[in-house]
Amino acid sequence: MRIGSVEITGRAALAPMAGVADPAFRRICREYGAAFTVTEMVSAKALTYGDQKSRELMTLDARERPAAIQLFGDDPDTLASAARMAMAQKPDWLDINMGCPAPKIAGNHCGSALMREPELCRRIVKAVVGAVDVPVTVKIRKGYSKDEVNAVEVAKACEDGGASAITVHGRTRDQMYAPPVDWDIIRAVKRAVSVPVIGNGDVNSPESAARLYEHTGCDLIMIGRGALGAPWVFQAVEAYLTHGVRLPDPPVAKRMDVLCRQIELAASLKGERVALLEARKHASWYMRELRGAAIFRGEAGMIATMEDLRRLCWRVIRRQEEE
Ligand SMILES: Cc1cc2nc3c(=O)[nH]c(=O)nc-3n(C[C@H](O)[C@H](O)[C@H](O)COP(=O)(O)O)c2cc1C
Repeated sequence: MRIGSVEITGRAALAPMAGVADPAFRRICREYGAAFTVTEMVSAKALTYGDQKSRELMTLDARERPAAIQLFGDDPDTLASAARMAMAQKPDWLDINMGCPAPKIAGNHCGSALMREPELCRRIVKAVVGAVDVPVTVKIRKGYSKDEVNAVEVAKACEDGGASAITVHGRTRDQMYAPPVDWDIIRAVKRAVSVPVIGNGDVNSPESAARLYEHTGCDLIMIGRGALGAPWVFQAVEAYLTHGVRLPDPPVAKRMDVLCRQIELAASLKGERVALLEARKHASWYMRELRGAAIFRGEAGMIATMEDLRRLCWRVIRRQEEE
């Protein structure tokens, strides 16, 4: 499949996840075969005000490509200006966030709130498409609430504005991340537009990836939470869909090794203090379902040095070998 002229290989992309899918995690997911990566969402308004932190969020490393920068905002002109600024990082394409449910985003008329105004969605896409010479994609939800299910209408508006692909997360804004996810809406969007559709929501295994493809006919799938602490999920999906092979999860020593490498990489990019604070949540994801996980999760909350992290990983490995 292609996004504009960008050829996408691989069967599952990494979802954008603010505060989680940072450059270190994105790079590791790409190593494991993620079809593409997307930055954490970046405020168009903050960018145009010269905010340094927002600019840093757009930093792209060659090893995470193909990669998109995701912008959020509600004003077509501001988004177009921000899009021009984003081009300094040479993204493979730009993505516009029309799905974030967080009160501080949706409450500010951005993210999923845009879905209440399909014509505004169209104008935003058109403005950004007109501002840059890379493809522009959008990421939407099922709708705003159960009484405002309009993903098909919004997807058509975005296609009309010039969007090159549309990602659909099968939940409404009001659902946030609560079950159930609705894959029928992804199928409905796929039938309604002619640009590629990327299906998203609750894929966390090769089998669920296969089911989402089959259920919706989508062109690609996107995995978010299912990749946390398990970046090898992309390799597993690829092996299953391409060769029908069910890869086992990596042995625990390998998992801990990947965790340490991710945090070392993060430390080299954003400094040890921040990386180690964030390591606490990543460590508990990597330790999910392992023997002693509940205790180790508590200990992960106290990691303060790289040495603490390595020692904890070592104890996790040893604990699995007991009994
Ligand atoms: C911690 C977290 C942060 C997220 N941040 C973003 C974001 O910055 N932009 C975006 O479009 N979606 C964001 N999402 C939504 C995900 O991209 C994805 O649509 C959602 O998690 C559903 O997919 P999943 O079931 O595979 O996790 C975020 C989700 C989580 C859990």
